[in-house]
Amino acid sequence: MNVDLVVVGSGFFGLTVAERCATGLGLRVLVLEKRDHIGGNAYSEDEPETGIEIHRYGAHLFHTSNERVWEYANRFTRFTDYRHHVYSTFKGRVYPLPINLGTICAYFGRAFTPDQARALIAEQAAELAGRAPRNLEEKAVSLIGRPLYEAFIRGYTAKQWQTDPRDLPAEIITRLPVRYTFDNRYFGDTHEGLPVDGYTPWLERMADHPNIEVRLGADFFDLRDDLVGRVPVVYTGPLDRYFGFAEGELGWRTLDFEMEVVPTGDFQGTPVMNYADEDVPYTRVHEFRHFHPERGHYPDDRTVIMREFSRSAGRDDEPYYPVNTAGDRERLRRYREMARREDGVLFGGRLGTYQYLDMHMAIASALGLVENRLRPHFEKGERLI
Ligand code: FAD
Ligand code: NA
Repeated sequence: MNVDLVVVGSGFFGLTVAERCATGLGLRVLVLEKRDHIGGNAYSEDEPETGIEIHRYGAHLFHTSNERVWEYANRFTRFTDYRHHVYSTFKGRVYPLPINLGTICAYFGRAFTPDQARALIAEQAAELAGRAPRNLEEKAVSLIGRPLYEAFIRGYTAKQWQTDPRDLPAEIITRLPVRYTFDNRYFGDTHEGLPVDGYTPWLERMADHPNIEVRLGADFFDLRDDLVGRVPVVYTGPLDRYFGFAEGELGWRTLDFEMEVVPTGDFQGTPVMNYADEDVPYTRVHEFRHFHPERGHYPDDRTVIMREFSRSAGRDDEPYYPVNTAGDRERLRRYREMARREDGVLFGGRLGTYQYLDMHMAIASALGLVENRLRPHFEKGERLI
């Protein structure tokens, strides 16, 4: 094979490695992608009937405080000045998230100063009287009190995990921040925005280099014997699958999305509405037109919404969020040991490291891999292990 490096997976991790190795190190890079499109889960496309850009694998918001990542991203796209906000519907009323002074005033139906709200929540959070929380419910109550837990956490969490929060481990949450101001901007990062002409054009520009070949519909495991040991490989697919599930499966949650074109110009007045009631089967509804209020060409009589449902993933489902039980962590430790011993193969990205990574984290991690492992290998002949 006439290439210097094979990258498995064309998500942000794989494409960052490919782009840096082609542009920065002058290498010929082959990217193998088993799906029929590039971009991994950040892929977006125009819904054909309306032309509204949708994110097929769930809404993707770009935000970072990492100057290096921001500078790098801006080589391939400009960003809009989009700022993310989320609301939650509970028992027929709407509240701002994350839980803030506006949420508290609306929920308890009167005006609170920041100090009054702090005192109220402290009093409600004292329910456990110092006893250690035995499950997720008790942990949440110890952080924000029972009323806010029951409104904003219980039903949503039960739907996310398809499990009663009293049967979930307390460790799933370490903090539940409450803001004692009316600020409900979702992300606190220095930089935030959405790619002006969409995610897929951004991802395509990263791959647009004469030394990069992206092969779609190509599963690494069909070519593995011709590659491993002959050419360095950066693998961003699932870690357990690489080793034939030898130590058992790493647990993931997946999401099901139901898309619908609705005959109205505006379905919910905001991009993301959470549904906290347990008897509403979905966790949230995305309305994609609101991610790009600046786009004049969207129709004013139709809109695209996507309902999101959460459940645990089987082997054939898309893995989205690591479950990360104690058993998972033990299996992960053993797989990492095996990955270290796998000569000539580097593991990266969210699937290859069994870690939830935002886009900016995947890019930062890939930039680090190129500088710390691949450049020393290709420029100084250091072993790739
Ligand atoms: P991925 O994007 O998953 O790419 C991995 C690629 O490898 C896939 O294309 C897959 O098909 C391919 N692959 C796997 N196995 C093989 C194989 N055997 N052969 C060939 N190809 C293979 N990030 C944010 O910053 N903001 C958000 O709002 C945000 N929302 C998200 C919402 C959801 C539901 C999810 C799941 C993720 C979200 N992310 C978000 C994270 C983001 O989607 C990516 O996970 C992140 O950029 C990491 O990219 P990656 O390249 O590591 O993995
Ligand atoms: Na290795």
